[in-house]
Amino acid sequence: MTDPEIHRGLAGVVVDTTTISSVNPETNSLLYRGYPVQELAKNCSFEEVAYLLWHGELPSTDELIAFEAQERSLRVLDERTRRAIDDVPASAHPMDALRTAVSELGALDETLQQPGAILDPELNQTRAVHLLAQLPTIVAYVQRRGRGLEAVEPRDDLDYARNFLYMTFGEVPDDVVVDAFRVSLVLYAEHSFNASTFTARVIASTLSDVYSAVTGAIGALKGPLHGGANEAVMHAFDEIGSADRAEPWLDEALAAKRKIMGFGHRVYKHGDSRVPTMRASLVDLVEHYDRQELLDLYEALENAMAERKNIKPNLDYPSGPAYSLMGFDTETFTPLFAAARVTGWTAHVFEQYAANSLIRPLSQYTGPAERHLAR
Ligand code: COA
Repeated sequence: MTDPEIHRGLAGVVVDTTTISSVNPETNSLLYRGYPVQELAKNCSFEEVAYLLWHGELPSTDELIAFEAQERSLRVLDERTRRAIDDVPASAHPMDALRTAVSELGALDETLQQPGAILDPELNQTRAVHLLAQLPTIVAYVQRRGRGLEAVEPRDDLDYARNFLYMTFGEVPDDVVVDAFRVSLVLYAEHSFNASTFTARVIASTLSDVYSAVTGAIGALKGPLHGGANEAVMHAFDEIGSADRAEPWLDEALAAKRKIMGFGHRVYKHGDSRVPTMRASLVDLVEHYDRQELLDLYEALENAMAERKNIKPNLDYPSGPAYSLMGFDTETFTPLFAAARVTGWTAHVFEQYAANSLIRPLSQYTGPAERHLAR
């Protein structure tokens, strides 16, 4: 028997079709439902982008008004979800608290018990909006809890991005900050069959519920090779300290065979299509907060990496320092990514349900040959 071809990491394997987004590394483009992500980041609210990902089209004015009202009405946390978060030790990573909270949301959703309700498209749409509305409240609360602060209740007179920042910091920051945050959310919303989205689709393919799929996706996103990279970038910046230290730091790190977080990508090999847009927002923040030294470090490491390895930054590279300037704790960066990506995850879960095939690949066994117990 000839050995099967092995596709480690599923690299280069096309496992299904999708109509949600397309990543084209040749033209360095990312389209959500056909629209270039840069255009969406420039012109659309995060709510509009969420609607687009779920429904395939941007909302009309009336649709947007109804959608925003629904999202705003679902922001308040159930006390039981808050207690579930409080049961997670404050020393645990915020992604652990988020994973627990989303799992609790699933346990609290009694509609899941009804026959056929797990796959019901209408119920699932409401569940997706519920997840969209709840994640900011959870993420903001977890950061505040970590700082020993009381929760700030959501406001229904603020849009998604403003309310998220308000619940985290107790005030709505200047428009330049809100805008950079909105841009980051739009850029993080969706990226085809990445590891966490694929995890969500694998779970959905067993006909498990959307909360289970999102809980699993959060677990996948946490890893430093995926969403955890945005916080790892900030840890690297803290280690390096200043621009003049970037080159020696990089040489040491590469000599120790360390992966440099925020650089490289499984799909983009000539640069990440989202980076220029996020970098522009980072520059706005640097000017707003008068923190040129951070941009100097950013550029010094980027240039050194280009020179030594010819590897370009991915979205996590500019978003890490941007979130830091906004005032988020480093450990909150990946939960922010999750709050944005829940739109893409759920869109993929529903696409999987609509044309399901259980995802179950094969493996080549390389363990001991058949053997028998000596007793
Ligand atoms: N730092 C140092 N070297 C890197 C690197 C990085 N960030 N990314 C890739 N490389 C090197 C690899 O060591 C490898 O070199 P080799 O051929 O000499 O062994 C080569 O580039 C190819 O990398 P590989 O790991 O095979 O690419 P991949 O497609 O499997 O991995 C990532 C993609 C994203 C996992 C990888 O680039 C990485 O670990 N990046 C850092 C984590 C990160 O920022 N993740 C967020 C992704 S959006």
